[in-house]
Amino acid sequence: MTPNGSTGGRLEGKVALVTGASRGIGAEIAKRFVLEGAKVLGVSRSEPAFDDSGPIARMRVDVSREDDVRAAVERAVETFGRLDVVVNNAAVEHEGTVEQTSAEAWAEVMDVNVRGVFLTSKYAMPHLRRTRGSIINISSVDGLWAEPGLAAYCASKGAVLALTRAMAIDHGPEGVRCNSICPSYVATEMLDQFYDAQPDPARARARAAGMHPLGRISGPGDIAGVAAFLASDDAAFVTGQSLVVDGGLTVGRAADVAALAPGQ
Ligand SMILES: NC(=O)c1ccc[n+]([C@@H]2O[C@H](COP(=O)([O-])OP(=O)(O)OC[C@H]3O[C@@H](n4cnc5c(N)ncnc54)[C@H](O)[C@@H]3O)[C@@H](O)[C@H]2O)c1
Repeated sequence: MTPNGSTGGRLEGKVALVTGASRGIGAEIAKRFVLEGAKVLGVSRSEPAFDDSGPIARMRVDVSREDDVRAAVERAVETFGRLDVVVNNAAVEHEGTVEQTSAEAWAEVMDVNVRGVFLTSKYAMPHLRRTRGSIINISSVDGLWAEPGLAAYCASKGAVLALTRAMAIDHGPEGVRCNSICPSYVATEMLDQFYDAQPDPARARARAAGMHPLGRISGPGDIAGVAAFLASDDAAFVTGQSLVVDGGLTVGRAADVAALAPGQ
C-alpha cells in the first residue's frame, strides 16, 4: 500500500524516464512509479554514470546538454525495451528581481528548466508515439502567478506551461498526452534554499504552512501521487492541463492570513 492509499499496479508494464531523480520530488516520483509497477530510469547531474543494479536504474545526465539527453532516452529504451512516460522534473532556482539577476543566472535557469524539458521531450517523442505514451512536466504555481524575487524562475515555469499546451495539441493526434503539475511549497532541499534566501528565513518557514488553506505545505509524496495518476490510464482523456497541487494556495487567502490582513 502506498502512502496515498493505492495498492499499486497502476503503471504495470510501463517504462518511465524521470529527470532530477536524485532527491526531492523526482526521487519520490521514481519510487512511487516503481511501487505502481513501472520500470524507471532516474537521471540527474549527481547520479553514477550508469547503474541498473537497484529497483531504479540511474544515469548521470545534465538535461541542458543535448548529447546527454539523447543518450538517456536511448539507454531507457535499450534497458527496458520501450518508453511510455517522461517526467520532466529537473530544475534550478535563482533568487532575484530582473535587476538582480545576472545574464548567466538567467541563462542557467532557462537552460535547465526550459531547454531541458524541450530536449527530453524532443528525443523521447518518437518512442512515446509508438507506445501512445505521456509527458508530465513539473512546473510550479510560479508559472501561473508570481512570487517576489524569483523573476527567472517564474518566467521559466510559465514557459513550461506554454510548451505543455503546444506539445499537447501537436502530439495529441498521435496519442501522446502532455500535462503539467503546478506544486506550491514542497518540503525539499530546493524549498530550504528558498527559505534561506529570505530576509527572515524562520518567519518565512512559519508563514508558509499558514498561507495554505489546507494548513500545511506539501510533501514530495503529494506530488508523486498526482504524477502517478497522470501517467496512468486513469488519465487517458487528460491532456494539455496544468494540474495545480497547492493545498488551495492560489484560490484565495487562508483563514489565518486573512485574519492578519490590516483592515479586514
Ligand atoms: N520544492 C518546491 O517547493 C517546489 C515547488 C514548486 C515546483 N517545484 C518544482 O519541482 C521540481 C523538483 O523540485 P525539488 O524541490 O525536488 O528540487 P531539488 O532541488 O530538491 O531537486 C532537483 C533535482 O534536479 C536535478 N537537477 C538540477 N539541475 C539538473 C540538470 N541540469 N540536469 C539534470 N538534473 C538536474 C538535481 O540533481 C535534483 O535531482 C522542480 O521542477 C521544481 O521547480 C518545486
